[in-house]
Amino acid sequence: MSAVVPARFDGRRVVITGAGSGIGQATVLRVLAEGGSVVAADVSEAGLADTVAKAGDAAGRLTTVVIDVSDEASVTAGVAAAREALGGIDALVNAAGILRSSHTHETSLADFELVLRVNLVGTFLMIRESLPALIESDDAAVVNFSSTSAMFAHPYMSAYAASKGGIQSMTHALAAEYAKQGVRFTAVQPGSISSGMTDGSGESGASRGPGLPEDADMMLFAKLAPALGQGFAGPETVAGVVAMLASSDGAFITGTEVRVDGGTHF
Ligand SMILES: NC(=O)c1ccc[n+]([C@@H]2O[C@H](COP(=O)([O-])OP(=O)(O)OC[C@H]3O[C@@H](n4cnc5c(N)ncnc54)[C@H](O)[C@@H]3O)[C@@H](O)[C@H]2O)c1
Repeated sequence: MSAVVPARFDGRRVVITGAGSGIGQATVLRVLAEGGSVVAADVSEAGLADTVAKAGDAAGRLTTVVIDVSDEASVTAGVAAAREALGGIDALVNAAGILRSSHTHETSLADFELVLRVNLVGTFLMIRESLPALIESDDAAVVNFSSTSAMFAHPYMSAYAASKGGIQSMTHALAAEYAKQGVRFTAVQPGSISSGMTDGSGESGASRGPGLPEDADMMLFAKLAPALGQGFAGPETVAGVVAMLASSDGAFITGTEVRVDGGTHF
């Protein structure tokens, strides 16, 4: 006999950034499949159009908003539009992010600051603007995007690693600060996931930039291969975990990370 499993996101209002590609897009599709209403936010209009096309019949519960998470005015206006469209916010998923790789002694201040601006400051701005609505929710959750790079060495990516370490620390601070108001904060640490960021296929521009230095020592990546499977996994492997954390199934989880990297790091 098969048990009746309630759709975890029935009536749940979810804002997802980075929703035009990769893991953010996969999370939109997963939450829609589980009955949720979603505002998909991204800086890439083409990416958002692709997400709408993939939503199929569920597109009636999907609204798109162009937001540049690194721009305060864009976030303020975009979150207000999202709140208006959904009538409130129960969950926020901060998947927007960029990666730039280079030798650190050749990294410009502009590039270093850009990575921190999009990844860390962008996550802060989205949370700050969404908190008044989240506090009004009966079951509020924020899922941030850290990375295995926050805990394990990823060469040529010092700005990226620093931004993800910052996101992780911020997640813990916020979990304590807003626990009494019922807002949970968690972070996922993906690793070795195929996406616009890792295969350069995205419309998003998230992987724009020079890529790894030509003389990169690939032996330094020997520990960055997953133990499970045949290589990189699809973005849906992270989306399912994000959905759990953003739903009431994660009701007793806050202030922690969940690593989703196929056993790249034990
Ligand atoms: N793929 C991996 O193996 C991996 C590993 C660790 C962490 N992550 C994290 O997962 C998250 C999702 O990345 P992904 O791998 O799906 O890459 P992706 O490039 O496929 O998706 C990133 C999305 O973020 C959007 N974006 C970039 N800058 C933005 C901005 N300023 N404002 C709004 N949106 C913006 C892009 O347009 C793109 O749609 C990122 O935070 C990334 O750092 C990914």
